[in-house]
Amino acid sequence: MAVRTAVIPAAGMGTRFLPATRATPKELLPIYDTPAIQFVIDEATAAGIERVIIVTSRAKPSIENYASSANTEKVAVSVVYQDSPLGLGHAVSCARDAVGNEPFVVMLPDEIMGDASLTKQLVALYEKSGKTSIGLKKVPASEVSSYGNVEIAGRTDVSPSDSAVAITRVIEKPKPNEAVSDLVIIGRYVLAPSVFDHLATIKPSANGEFQLTDALALLANDNQLLGIVSDITRYDTGTPMGLLRAVIEIALGRKDIGPQLQTWLENKFQN
Ligand code: UTP
Repeated sequence: MAVRTAVIPAAGMGTRFLPATRATPKELLPIYDTPAIQFVIDEATAAGIERVIIVTSRAKPSIENYASSANTEKVAVSVVYQDSPLGLGHAVSCARDAVGNEPFVVMLPDEIMGDASLTKQLVALYEKSGKTSIGLKKVPASEVSSYGNVEIAGRTDVSPSDSAVAITRVIEKPKPNEAVSDLVIIGRYVLAPSVFDHLATIKPSANGEFQLTDALALLANDNQLLGIVSDITRYDTGTPMGLLRAVIEIALGRKDIGPQLQTWLENKFQN
């Protein structure tokens, strides 16, 4: 079945950006002159997605206002609500009625990708296999415990040139001695609609949040989870330093402001 819907979870508290997030939701913080979430809506559109469902909170009315201004001829943008921030898995389940019984992409708006290639690859893999397909990347061993970590069928070494890998195990933020590989989950997932049934059965983790990775772990147990190992340019805008890096690198790449910014930076660091 064709993938035409994207869900963007944007109902989190944004505590790492306080006090800025008292004024502006994290997902609307500007990357130079463009709200972060617009990059993700543009990526979805470039990947052929026709409708975007933003999961937001009633405490963040500016997201709903932004959503209504983000509709275009190519993409219809709407919102659903998560009444309390009970975790990413819970946020995704709040979109169940709006999505219906069809596959969909989940795109985390605090990860901005350099282009739409990974989402396109994941959509193509889902449409071929019918299995939930998620983005992966290799990280140094010291970083694995910040992410969801995956084990791959029958092998320990994979490279970004591998088209698809079968995932046999998923562990959320493992302790260093529990890591099963150097492969971690990044914020693009094409989910089969059956994931909603799995999300309905999982229990909250120790911090009280319902984790999407726990539902993915159930799919891995049933041999229903594939991954694509990618070396796509990726900005982690969920932390202040990551946002700053994204602003500088994306602005440097723009024709209108890039040369001016580069000259200013060069002058600043001369001597
Ligand atoms: P994060 O955990 O990075 O966002 O979730 P957060 O909770 O807002 O961040 P901090 O830790 O307080 O700084 C990744 C994405 O999932 C959404 C967030 O809005 C973010 O876009 N999310 C998270 C929800 O929609 N609901 C939740 O309950 C949790």
